[in-house]
Amino acid sequence: MPEKTLNVAIIGCNFMGKAHSNAWLQAARFFDLPARPVLKVACGRQAGAVTRFAENWGWQGIETDWRKVVGRSDVDIVDIALPPHLHHDVAVAAAKAGKHIFCEKPMALSVAEAGAMLEAATQAGVVHYVNHNYRRTPAVQLAKRVMNDGRIGRVFHWRGAYQQDWIVDPEFPLTWHLQKETAGTGPHGDLNSHSVDLAHFLVGDVKSVSCLTASFIDERPLPGAGAATFRAGNRAGTMRRGPVTVEDASLMQVEFVNGAIGSFEATRFAPGRKNRNTFEIYGSNGSLQFDLERMNELQFFSRSDPADAQGFRTILVTEPCHPYAGKWWPPGHTIGYEHGFVHAVADFVSAIVAKTPMDPDFTDGMKVMTVLEAAMTAARSGARVRIAAPERVARA
Ligand SMILES: NC(=O)c1ccc[n+]([C@@H]2O[C@H](COP(=O)([O-])OP(=O)(O)OC[C@H]3O[C@@H](n4cnc5c(N)ncnc54)[C@H](O)[C@@H]3O)[C@@H](O)[C@H]2O)c1
Repeated sequence: MPEKTLNVAIIGCNFMGKAHSNAWLQAARFFDLPARPVLKVACGRQAGAVTRFAENWGWQGIETDWRKVVGRSDVDIVDIALPPHLHHDVAVAAAKAGKHIFCEKPMALSVAEAGAMLEAATQAGVVHYVNHNYRRTPAVQLAKRVMNDGRIGRVFHWRGAYQQDWIVDPEFPLTWHLQKETAGTGPHGDLNSHSVDLAHFLVGDVKSVSCLTASFIDERPLPGAGAATFRAGNRAGTMRRGPVTVEDASLMQVEFVNGAIGSFEATRFAPGRKNRNTFEIYGSNGSLQFDLERMNELQFFSRSDPADAQGFRTILVTEPCHPYAGKWWPPGHTIGYEHGFVHAVADFVSAIVAKTPMDPDFTDGMKVMTVLEAAMTAARSGARVRIAAPERVARA
């Protein structure tokens, strides 16, 4: 273990709180890091729940006010594992306090918020990162390598779909994900933000966008007693209800700067699709396909193969020559969802010590927000919307 340490504060102690805690714990055990993350303090709203969380994951202390956390002199890194409406305020305060920032996606509620976060982080000179963790899936990194090597050639098509099914039941409660004030948008921001980031990473910048959104369920039971009742299987219909204020599905069509065209589908209404984050890329020399539910595999078709042996091959991305894979288990001993978070933490710690930028950073996150926001404008007007030229979104 390295002697140098970096103290981490995590804000938000539920789903992402767990995934991030695991990553802060594991990173230095599997990767040769220049510094060891120390789980210094966990912050949530209820002392009892945060204490249990901290004890389980090994956080040294707890706080219940994020403002205190970002101001602490013994904190180097602020990890934002909160719903989107809190990202801006916490990130700006953390940057002003000189903390490096590891922030969940979608980066913010709007391009304006994302811009303010980028400006604050840039002025502070801190390392900033938006957790589009799927970039660091070995199969996705391999896709990037294959494309960089020219094995796909000129890209013609991107086809992305991020599909889940966890709110198909109309009695699923009105959680923060379903309210505009807390989530900004529905699957458009939650899921398409990942897909747009992957498309930026693999294909390039987007030039214009059109979009169609749909709402399937207008109101849902309020969380609280209703949610508990729902989980217990009692759907008597006596719960108080509130309006769903985000879209339930989003379909985007884009034109990339390099001339490729693409589609993006995001929904939580696809029964049987649990977390199907998939993309297909078709180019002049070949094609690629990835599906997160088969995340150790990459499908590759090469037009350079002999004509009588052409066909999609399935690459099991677990060899030492594959990105990140050699740090884990012997070939064929597959990895899972949580490993992408460990990869992100490992690279983030290295970036801090090396004083280099981390990707995707707040510039990249803001670029994603720009496409998503333009798409919502397009959905409202029915028109195709041009995206501001990438050079106008200044790199930090
Ligand atoms: N990268 C991924 O794969 C991925 C997956 C799921 C969620 N996310 C993102 O992570 C973020 C958090 O999502 P989640 O699923 O963990 O949500 P969650 O609802 O499971 O957890 C959010 C936590 O924040 C806490 N919280 C809310 N307000 C707070 C405050 N003022 N101070 C302290 N704590 C507060 C809540 O009590 C809760 O514990 C969201 O932006 C979401 O889009 C990313």
